[in-house]
Amino acid sequence: MKVYIAPTPLVKILIVTPEVAPFAKVGGLADVTGALPKALAALGHDVKVVCPLYGSIRRDSQWHPQGKPLSVQMGTGVRYARVWERVLPGSEVSGYFIEYDEFFSRPEIYEGPWGWHSDNDRRFGFFSRAALDLCFWMDWMPDVVHVHDWPTGLVPVMLNTVYAGTPLGRAASILTIHNIQHQGYCDHSIIGFLGLPEWLFRADHIEAMGAVSMLKGGIFHSTKITTVSPTYAQEIQGPIGGQGLNSILSFRAADLVGVLNGIDTSVWNPRTDKALPAPFWHGDLAPKELSKKALCEKFGLNYRPETPVYGVVSRLFGQKGLDILRGIVPRLMQETDAQFVVLGMGESDLEYAFSDFHGRYGGRFATWIGFDDARARLIYGGADFFLMPSRFEPCGLGQMYAMAYGTIPVVRRTGGLADTVRPYNEADASGTGFLFDEASGEALFGAILQSLKVYHEKPDHIRLLREHGMRQDFTWDTSAAAYTNVYRWAIETRQGIVSNTPLPAK
Ligand code: ADP
Ligand code: GLC
Repeated sequence: MKVYIAPTPLVKILIVTPEVAPFAKVGGLADVTGALPKALAALGHDVKVVCPLYGSIRRDSQWHPQGKPLSVQMGTGVRYARVWERVLPGSEVSGYFIEYDEFFSRPEIYEGPWGWHSDNDRRFGFFSRAALDLCFWMDWMPDVVHVHDWPTGLVPVMLNTVYAGTPLGRAASILTIHNIQHQGYCDHSIIGFLGLPEWLFRADHIEAMGAVSMLKGGIFHSTKITTVSPTYAQEIQGPIGGQGLNSILSFRAADLVGVLNGIDTSVWNPRTDKALPAPFWHGDLAPKELSKKALCEKFGLNYRPETPVYGVVSRLFGQKGLDILRGIVPRLMQETDAQFVVLGMGESDLEYAFSDFHGRYGGRFATWIGFDDARARLIYGGADFFLMPSRFEPCGLGQMYAMAYGTIPVVRRTGGLADTVRPYNEADASGTGFLFDEASGEALFGAILQSLKVYHEKPDHIRLLREHGMRQDFTWDTSAAAYTNVYRWAIETRQGIVSNTPLPAK
């Protein structure tokens, strides 16, 4: 990555996000926006986070409703929202949560029991304007507005258009792509709803296939673009990884960098995790066995110290390649002694198939459908191996949590998995996990067999692999320093100090 020395070292950063842990979480994006601001604040930056106030967020005395209403300028007139302030746990970073019942009183972030909310474009379009109007409400102008994924993709577009003549228009924007699969396609009417100029409806701005793509708009209009691993930064510039956006990402390649996610070790740490029966660390791994026992009891697996448990904690969607695992489960049950535990929710056919295995292979295959942080932690702590056969994986946090908890990843060599898991080498017992290349049952089966063989024949190597994983530094410090460089680079570009890849002319 390019390194620039900025004239002003500290930066004012507004992080605009649809999810933030521990309050509103669907996946790893929330973990990132929950941890990155703390790491940035620790470097001295002035950071604020803004997120919608979903109906599922429980508010206690640490939540402070603000008396002054937030006026949000929409195309159809001004709407008024309420702002709640809540400091992010373990930090002094202020989180601002936008209460607006029509869009956010429902509990779910993106989809309810009947699927994707049909007004997601309006919900997150409104949120994007509200997040920017919040700066005027606070009388605080950021140097950088850092947005995440399609729900906030229109923020850079707004900065370049409706806010261009305001003090906020000076702010640089960073779009982080956590997952390019979701692009926020919506109807042309969003333009009028948000009060954006009609000329934006062009293929070199926000139009895509006759509709509006919020993510595409963000890619064209943000000052700089990041994604969550160096390998994924390359992959999304190709026809398969780019999922239709590869050409414009290649067009903006000079402004695109991969910054690997970190993990928040104050929250994900086997020495302090209350979900585990006993703490452990790389210097004393013995108590990990108690986690394995507790895991087996909790999920209904037979507990046998000599039999390895393979864990999955995942959204159950095509991206994660769990249909590949589904296809080989009968064979694994027949030909190996491995046991499996799956925690997740998502596509109904996968939920059904894994629940069916739970019944069919009782004691050896356990499934829990739902979202449960404590159960997830018990899997990271108690399993021997952690499976991620992802078709694509922008970064992946699960494999890093697993390694931090001494659980050995078995993963497909793609995206951030390729960047974070080092392959086991039998010759010198180096590496941190097992990798395979093809997205096929055969390849996954082969990797599981390889790991099983090492488990049974070389326990000393297994111990070393666990230790290597646990000793790695996945803390946010490195990533926060890398983001700082990106912010300074973006500020300089925005202020014309270094030249930018030109934005397409109006
Ligand atoms: P993604 O963001 O694509 O879902 P990541 O590996 O980056 O994948 O992050 C997933 C995050 O969500 C991790 O914190 C993981 O522990 C958590 N998670 C996923 N599914 C569940 C679940 N069913 N219950 C609890 N936590 C889950
Ligand atoms: C996305 C990706 C995942 C990544 C996470 C956090 O949900 O699917 O790979 O770790 O965002 O960046």
